[in-house]
Amino acid sequence: MIIANSISKLHASLPQSGRIVLVPTMGALHRGHASLVKKAREIAGSEGTVIVSIFVNPTQFDRTEDLDCYPSTWQSDLQICDKSEADIIFAPAADVMYVPNHSISISETSLSSGLCGKTRPGHFDGVCLVVNKLFNITRATHALFGEKDFQQFAIIQRMVRDLNMPIEIIPCETIREASGLAMSSRNLLLTEPHREHAPQVYSALQQARQLVLDGETSAAKVIEATRQRLESLPNQPQIDYLELVDAHSLQPITDLAGTNAVLAIAIFFGEVRLIDHIHLNYYTI
Ligand code: PAJ
Repeated sequence: MIIANSISKLHASLPQSGRIVLVPTMGALHRGHASLVKKAREIAGSEGTVIVSIFVNPTQFDRTEDLDCYPSTWQSDLQICDKSEADIIFAPAADVMYVPNHSISISETSLSSGLCGKTRPGHFDGVCLVVNKLFNITRATHALFGEKDFQQFAIIQRMVRDLNMPIEIIPCETIREASGLAMSSRNLLLTEPHREHAPQVYSALQQARQLVLDGETSAAKVIEATRQRLESLPNQPQIDYLELVDAHSLQPITDLAGTNAVLAIAIFFGEVRLIDHIHLNYYTI
């Protein structure tokens, strides 16, 4: 496995032919990331190249304390990439990715208007910028993203479509701990009591799904029941948002009948912000 910290070293390591399959990450890798790298290996085949980028992208952090606290587990990241059969780790420093007077930005104006886009201004523009740069730098033919960050996934697909980017985007299912808690690098930052209660987030989402299965069509009622359950937890986690949106437009839904909806949440356990979601497809559940 090659570790490239510079663009020139990365380019010197790239093959002349075959698929180049990219897994963009911010490090602190866990089984969720590993599942993406393993799938990337399958897509690349033995002839292709799997690149994992590890870069904590400053332009997507709206809170500096969040950027400063972002976990780093470099040695374990290397082991996970090696075991998952990555070929190259691209781990640039911030000044390799951003020259001091960089002045071009990307702005998504529809899918990012709600959910995380509303409470984290500029976040998705930062994601689009860095992902676009990583696509260009790595010359990737394919890139994998987790459905866990479902708004991010939708926005990246939209960027690729709207800017005619020559790359195939592949979704990967959310990997959870046995407790149901969606794996996240941020879980490392949870205190012990918060860690104990964080799995309740997915249980509450599943409970909401059950309500809809039982015939509830009012989005307000589904949201209220979920909110009450989470706000009654010890340590009182703070809900950042809890919304029912259309799975494609990401616009809020009021009546669930006949919709393809997603119940999405962002919630603070102490300083740690976790996100999760569940599909409530009225036709298929
Ligand atoms: P990061 O949070 O490190 O996630 C990297 C990739 O792993 C994303 O595509 C994310 O959706 C996926 N992922 C994270 N947890 C997962 C889980 N439990 N199951 C499945 N996939 C999971 O997302 C980012 O980094 C950044 O925004 C990035 C795209 C790298 C741009 O900086």
